[in-house]
Amino acid sequence: MPNPIYLDYHSTTPVDRRLIDVIYDSMIDNFGNPSSIDHLWGDRTLNLIKKAKQQIANLINCQAQEIIFTSGATESINTVIQGLTPPNHFIISPLEHKAVIDTCQAMVKRGLGKIRWLKVDKKGRIDLEYLEKMCLQGASLLCVMAANNEIGNIYPIQEIGKIAQTYNIPFLCDGSQAVGKIPLNFEDWGITFLTISGHKLYAPKGIGALIIKKGFTLQPLIYGGGHQNGLRSGTLNVSGIVALGEACYLRQLEMVEDEKAIALKRNHLQSILQAQIPSLIVNGDIDNRLAGNLHISIPDVPNSAIIARVRDKLAISTGSACTTETLAPSHVLRAINLEDELIEGALRIGIGKFTTHEEIEKSADILINIINQVLSIY
Ligand SMILES: Cc1ncc(COP(=O)(O)O)c(C=O)c1O
Repeated sequence: MPNPIYLDYHSTTPVDRRLIDVIYDSMIDNFGNPSSIDHLWGDRTLNLIKKAKQQIANLINCQAQEIIFTSGATESINTVIQGLTPPNHFIISPLEHKAVIDTCQAMVKRGLGKIRWLKVDKKGRIDLEYLEKMCLQGASLLCVMAANNEIGNIYPIQEIGKIAQTYNIPFLCDGSQAVGKIPLNFEDWGITFLTISGHKLYAPKGIGALIIKKGFTLQPLIYGGGHQNGLRSGTLNVSGIVALGEACYLRQLEMVEDEKAIALKRNHLQSILQAQIPSLIVNGDIDNRLAGNLHISIPDVPNSAIIARVRDKLAISTGSACTTETLAPSHVLRAINLEDELIEGALRIGIGKFTTHEEIEKSADILINIINQVLSIY
């Protein structure tokens, strides 16, 4: 059976083949431990790490020394939220990833903090006036993601960072879906902590980074050999790090062109679907969303009925990969007050760098056929 067409780029991206050489080199030719300061093998690998840090720093405008490597965004987020000195007062958007929400809630359960929630509208836009009012009352951490992993909304991080700075509130920005897709400026935008996930930007799974503004300290989650300034002990994942660095380098070179091309493909798919299925609704903030995001609902057509019929032809999803296992309705769609029938009919389509025009045309045909089939039954 041929592979289903992959349109789930928010969940994960394929690794860019051009990373293979640096991964190979760091595993086979330059396999040293970067902490081995007594010989050349260690020195060489340390140089690879330094290069990767610079590549990441160039993409998001931070200093190389501000970068800590982790296993991914979930760990980066936990490192911040659990690493602050309690008691903590969190201001969070209800549309944050579960890695943020559940970690803050775990802190509250342990009696180590409290949460105040930001307000969002039906398109998933954050009420910035309310955000400022919340910040005015003080807090120990403000959490707002740069882009949403379900509806694809892009948030005004520069503006939010400015508010956070005005009220002196540390600002955690989850950049998992945004880094390498939209411009982000760590140094100039008032971000205190920024998270990066390798597998969302064509690098492998199991590697990520946390950028920590100079002068801010956290208690470690992981103790041991004192690696990475004692904040995250454990031998560095060198092959993951060099791949992440190279992926950031490629994103910096290609992001603008790639995202333009991706948006054209997304818009093409959206317009075919809208023309053929008049009841189709596009969710989220359509004026401000990731180029590769298309989040739709078809009233009276349960998403499970579509997925069951397309799953061997097309990889799309009903929600975020990390929450679909629970089969609970998406907390994001609940928070934006989407009607039940629209939540039940919600489908997330994620287009990426390697999606071809032919795949878009074929996916449109598959979806239209199946949706019409299901509409005739329900
Ligand atoms: C917005 C967002 N934050 C955090 C994560 C978790 O990232 P990771 O898989 O690197 O732990 C994801 C992954 O789906 C995400 O989309």
